[in-house]
This record gives sequence, C-alpha cells and structure tokens, in this order.
Amino acid sequence: MDDGSSQPPECVDSISRRSFVRSAVAVGGTAVFAACLARERPQALPQGVTDPSTLPERQHAWNEALSKDDHGNVVVPRHRLLLYLDYRSEGVPTTDERSTVATALETLERAYPRSNEGLLFTVSYSPRYFERFDVSLPSSVSLPPPEALAPFESPTLDTPDAVVHLASDYGSVVLSAEQALFGELDALNGRGVDASIEGVFHRRERRTGFIGAGLPADNQSVAGLPASEPVSEETPLYMGFKSSFSKSQASEDRVTIDDGPFAGGTTQHISTLRLHLQQWYEQDSRRHRVATMFCPAHADEQRVEGVGENLGTDPEISAQGCPSNTQADWTERGRVGHAQKSARARRDDRPIILRRDFNSTDDDTAGLHFVSLQASIEDFVETRTAMNGTDLDGDGGSVQRSNNGILQYLTVRNRGNYLVPPRRHRVLPVPNPTHNAIE
Ligand code: HEM
Repeated sequence: MDDGSSQPPECVDSISRRSFVRSAVAVGGTAVFAACLARERPQALPQGVTDPSTLPERQHAWNEALSKDDHGNVVVPRHRLLLYLDYRSEGVPTTDERSTVATALETLERAYPRSNEGLLFTVSYSPRYFERFDVSLPSSVSLPPPEALAPFESPTLDTPDAVVHLASDYGSVVLSAEQALFGELDALNGRGVDASIEGVFHRRERRTGFIGAGLPADNQSVAGLPASEPVSEETPLYMGFKSSFSKSQASEDRVTIDDGPFAGGTTQHISTLRLHLQQWYEQDSRRHRVATMFCPAHADEQRVEGVGENLGTDPEISAQGCPSNTQADWTERGRVGHAQKSARARRDDRPIILRRDFNSTDDDTAGLHFVSLQASIEDFVETRTAMNGTDLDGDGGSVQRSNNGILQYLTVRNRGNYLVPPRRHRVLPVPNPTHNAIE
C-alpha cells in the first residue's frame, strides 16, 4: 500500500510533462507512476464533500461543475480513463457487495471536488450486466445490445458488466482514483480509503485518453499520424479542429431519461475509433478539411479560422442551411461535411446526443473514444446513421466513404451500450428498482 506521497528517483524532468502524464495514465498502476505524478498537482488540491448525498442526482451533470472558455463553452477535463469491469460473482449482487462499492465510490467524492482540477466520474452498466436478473429493464429505458451501425464496419461488440469513466485535468487524480478503487492506496488526497471494489469487480480492460490544447501535439508519435508531426499546439483533438461547441451539443436535460425508476439517468454509447490521418495531413488541403469536417459552405466562405476559435459557441451548421443542402452537395459537388450530415438528426434545432469524446494513444495508435450520452440508444443510432450518409447514393446501403464527411479517416473498432443510472441507483442496480422519485 502507498499513500502516493514519496518522490522516487526515477522521476525524469527532461521528458515533456504533458506527454509523460499521458503515458502514465495509459500505462497506469504502479506506485512509481503515482508518486511521479504527484508533482503535477497543485500544492493544495481541495478535498471533496463531507456529505456525498448532497451531490447531483444526475451522474452525467458535469456542465455546472466544469469551467467555461471565453465564449461560454464547457471546458471538459483533459485526462480520461475508462475502466471496463466484470462482476466477479455468478449470481446477483449481495447487500454486502453494494455497501462496499457504495463506500468506494463515496471515497472518491470525499477526496476530490467535482471540478476540472478535482474529479468527475460516472458508473454505467451494460445489457449483459442486467441479464443476470429474472426481470427486465422497464420500458422507460432503451438499452439494446450493441451492434454494427454501418454496412462498412465490423466492430467488436463490448460486453463488460460495467464501465467507470474517470475525468480530471490532472492525470495523477485520474490514476490515484483508479488505485483507490482497487485498494492500492491507503489515503486519497488526505482522506482515508475505506473500501475497494477489487473483490466485486475484475478490471477487464483500461482505455485511456486526453483532450485539450497541447496534448494531441505532444502525443503524435503514434501509428495513424504522419511522421512529419503535423498536429498543431493549438488543437484540442488530433484532427485539427475544436469540437463540441455549446450550440452543437445536446443539453444535459435533453439526454436525461425523464420517467420510470431510472429517471435522472441517461444512456451511454462508447465507440472506440482508430484514426488514419496520413492523407488528411499530407495530401488534403485545408479547404478540403473544413469542407469535410464542417460543411462545403464553411470552406467556400472561409468561416473557420485555425482550430475554430472564431466560431464562438456555434459553428452555425444548421443556421446556414448546411443540413438541408447535404444531398445537393453530394450530388452536385461530390463532397459533404461531417457536421453537416450529422446535424440532420437534430430536434428543435439542437443535436440529440451529448458528446464527451477524447483522443487516445492506446495500442500506440491514434484513436478516439467516442463517449456519447442520449436519452435512448436509438438517438445515437439515428445520429450515427445520419453521419454515415448511407442514404446519399439512393439505396440506403453502401456508400462511397471518400469525401463523405470524415468516414474515410476512421475505423470503428468497438461499440458498447450502457445505462448510466441516476446516483441513487448507481451501485449494482437491479433492473426494477422500486424507488422512483428524484430526491
Ligand atoms: C474523430 C472523430 C470525430 C471528430 C474529430 C469530430 C469532430 C466534429 C466537429 C469538429 C464537429 C463540428 C463542430 C462541433 O462539434 O460543434 C462535429 C460535430 C458533430 N459530430 Fe463529430 N466528430 C467525430 C466523430 C463523431 C461521431 C462518431 C459522431 C457520432 C454520431 C459524431 C457526431 C457529431 C454530431 C452530432 C455533431 C453536431 C452536429 C450538429 O451541429 O447538429 N461525431 N464533430
């Protein structure tokens, strides 16, 4: 056991701190890494709440807790870890197991504030987890098993029982939270660690990543990116543009399940994408990149400067009529934009999914973990179908992937669907809890 406070001599100053922190989150685990990473923390990171029951009922209510940029867009935490967990026992969860997991989760909330510098997390459960019970999920929850969502993809369909998504601006906070969950620390930010989920869950897989200016640039020596290191210091994502402007995101209200026992929860789709950006950076022009990422009209009128900072809170995909021009742009100009196609799935002029995606160097390959929240998995399927553009060639089947948004630069490696229950049911839930009300 370790309290994460020692400073081993292995800490090396000469390598880039950002790159080092990213690799440490990716590798995970050892006390040496935790101790090294202690140096990235501010001297006094405040502690979390004394009474975790005062925290928001919606696990996914992150926006209030996060800082905003100069325009008012939410600034998401820079370091991420997805823990893929299998429930160890054959049967259904016991009261003791629930109490252990509840204590372990509350330990995180007592240790760190819910903020960029502190820790945000969600706990979610897969369709496979719920199969162990004799009863089904209520009709107010749409949680089908994952499936391939395009004729041109054949992803591995993920079947862990649960996924924990940990997020912080500090890689050391994310790593320490993981270590505390698995009983590898006695204390977490000065608070005692009283329980571990290790006896209840087996850690099947870790998926890691980052988002935010500087991190993609510092971590571009991976497969999928050209050796010329073209990723700019300014971009928060490998593809060179800012994403998730406030007005191109669903609100947290829109993605919340609003009735039944899981009211206050949401559904989560996680796809793991591999990126192939050689052509993007070495052959394609900036004009092509803006046209296929946003919309041809955005390229014609040079609406996007740099990474898109000039767009404020709204890339005006819909206001400029891009979605309704999708078919005409495809037929007449042979090119359509990713955001243009995806915006065809809007309702009341807003997207129906809330994107919390981030880049990755897992397997030493440029990737993106696309974490998407929506009221029902159907909302994700509808949006992804619009992004596929399989309707553009008329038969709804195969479609050319080049010049078709960003499809040719992505391969979907995995897909998984999960329920993010409201806080009151976040610990090993049954499918039919009796406690409906949001307190
Ligand atoms: C490497 C992968 C991806 C990158 C770099 C990317 C980037 C972007 C960018 C730059 C925008 C326009 C600006 C904005 O976000 O407000 C956008 C919009 C959007 N993207 Fe993606 N995206 C990726 C994958 C996906 C996937 C897999 C989906 C799933 C369906 C998706 C759904 C959307 C939606 C719904 C919008 C907003 C459309 C609207 O304004 O209504 N994106 N994306």
